[in-house]
Amino acid sequence: MKIIGFESSCDETAVSVLEADEKGKLHILSNAIASQVDTHRLYGGVVPEIAGRAHIEAISALTREALTSASTKPEELSAVAVTTHPGLIGALLVGVSFAKAFAVRYGLPLVSVDHIKGHVAAAYLTEAPPTPPFVALVVSGGHTSLFAVEDYTRFRLVGKTRDDAIGEAFDKIGRIVGLPYPAGAGFDTLARQGFIRATGKEEGFYAAFKQTEVYKNPYYKFPSAALADGSLDFSFSGMKTAAINLLHRFEQSGTPLENDYFAAAYTYAAVESVAKKVEALLKEYPTASLTVAGGVAANSHLRARLSSLCEKMGRTLCMPPISLCGDNGAMIAAQGYYEYLDGHIATSAQNASAEDDAQ
Ligand code: KG4
Ligand code: ZN
Repeated sequence: MKIIGFESSCDETAVSVLEADEKGKLHILSNAIASQVDTHRLYGGVVPEIAGRAHIEAISALTREALTSASTKPEELSAVAVTTHPGLIGALLVGVSFAKAFAVRYGLPLVSVDHIKGHVAAAYLTEAPPTPPFVALVVSGGHTSLFAVEDYTRFRLVGKTRDDAIGEAFDKIGRIVGLPYPAGAGFDTLARQGFIRATGKEEGFYAAFKQTEVYKNPYYKFPSAALADGSLDFSFSGMKTAAINLLHRFEQSGTPLENDYFAAAYTYAAVESVAKKVEALLKEYPTASLTVAGGVAANSHLRARLSSLCEKMGRTLCMPPISLCGDNGAMIAAQGYYEYLDGHIATSAQNASAEDDAQ
């Protein structure tokens, strides 16, 4: 069967067509994305009103593009999946309204997809997809969450950030050091330069960073975002505030900040915080494999750190390719496929919601 997936929760309009073969293996036939990043960059972040309008302008042509490059006619589809929550309400409404109209026009069942579950479903599009039950880390611009994925459609939230998300913190800090929005990928590169310069190593620099003068410099100390209360929760606001204060101190003293060292130290603290809770999670689920998903799962240092953690703990790790970590329609169609198999068909009353727990 073929399924179309629509995504419009933030600043990417995305439409994808997937095909599930007789064995249930998913194949991406097309994955069209219209990014609004260049528009929002002018404002240093996503402007919800502009995002909604840009989705409206992009979605029809993008749908045509996704169907054409998948060599698929709407009549050949079996279901329509759409992100209904969480996200920016005005942005979500564009995808939901369009998908509803599309489903009615072609007499297809509509499936509501949770954006976060969609991120995890990107793992089903890899060469070696995980099979539930497993555990998952979702790190994105809006989320830092740990889940027990009990079944394809049943997730249990076991840890989360109580304030800022890791991606939001990367974007904010990166912006202050002059990187364009969204700063995550640029900050990753800057941190790499810092790790290499601090350790003198082109490889293995992350593990070696702890022995360096930069790491030991009290200026570059950040409070851990891994809460020390026995929970699997995070708090990135303390780390973010410490970083902003440090940047101000440098500014006031007139000392030029060594941006690469700063990025390395901040990244190290953020990644170690995540690794600490992931290790605790894996201990709680002694046989589970780990899936890492969401935009920040593209972070090269996080990927390397979690790879070595899983190797040390003898666990299977699934990290979607970087092209499927950020928002895309294929991940929504993939989760939609499993929701469809479970009979989760939306009614014509289906709405969008900004909230995490909406149905
Ligand atoms: O999942 P996503 O595309 O959108 C949301 O659902 O939020 O995630 C976007 C986030 C942004 O904060 C962006 O800066 C971050 O992912 N990001 C990265 C990297 N690439 C994207 N953060 C750290 N390192 C990266 N390489
Ligand atoms: Zn996302």
